[in-house]
Amino acid sequence: MILLKGPDELAQMREAGRIVAEVLDEVEKAVRAGVTTDELDRLAEELTLSKGAKPAFKGYKPHGLAYPKSLCVSINEEIVHGIPSARRIKPGDIVSLDFGVNYMGYFADSARTVPVGRIGRRDQRLIEVTRAALYAGIEQARTGNRLSDIATAVQRVAETAGFSVVEEFAGHGIGRSLHEEPQVPNYFRPGMENPRLKEGMALAIEPMFNEGGPELKILANGWTAVTADGKRSAHFEHCIAICGDGPEILSVARRV
Ligand code: MF3
Ligand code: CO
Repeated sequence: MILLKGPDELAQMREAGRIVAEVLDEVEKAVRAGVTTDELDRLAEELTLSKGAKPAFKGYKPHGLAYPKSLCVSINEEIVHGIPSARRIKPGDIVSLDFGVNYMGYFADSARTVPVGRIGRRDQRLIEVTRAALYAGIEQARTGNRLSDIATAVQRVAETAGFSVVEEFAGHGIGRSLHEEPQVPNYFRPGMENPRLKEGMALAIEPMFNEGGPELKILANGWTAVTADGKRSAHFEHCIAICGDGPEILSVARRV
């Protein structure tokens, strides 16, 4: 069942979204060569608690194994769910930051990939294309459309650029739970579930694109997905609400 959110709930989700964006902005500023991913995790956690929110990922247990940290930091060939550690970020890395909070019972979730120092042209393009695909998907998040309009818009941006779409992970509904129905895939094939989009839906849209093939492996930690061919991957995510006049991005620091 897809839960629809009313104006009061959306007002709460805006607050959760604002906190996620503010924290990610600060963590992004702290991403530089020499910093450890544990330091980024601690920064995210401290900022979140100081804003009266709770980190959403820490202890989250969708499949038996609880996620141990507050932040996901996925470097280079890591696609998603990179676990912070004593690893130091290096010049030329691309770093995906994925973060969620629970604020007064409502969740928000957002991700972005940032370069460290000088990166190659193809890495730069991967980052730009994945971000553009997120916005192409958001643009389709309006009443009258279906889920496939979001999915195919995202997929088309990847395919046009020659990048591959990670199929094992999808976006999701979000609200009083981090993950609600529906799943929001980044590709579409006939036969897949394809609900109509309605006012009051809140969705996390989160394309993950690879420079090489779409295949992945899960590391021995049970969480971290890496590309099977070792090539790089990027990830962008926003929470949005479907309003009467179109999509509203919830995970932004300041509304204009
Ligand atoms: N943005 C990711 C997702 O929605 C991050 C989840 S991390 C987890 O699946 F630890 F919560 F699983
Ligand atoms: Co998400």
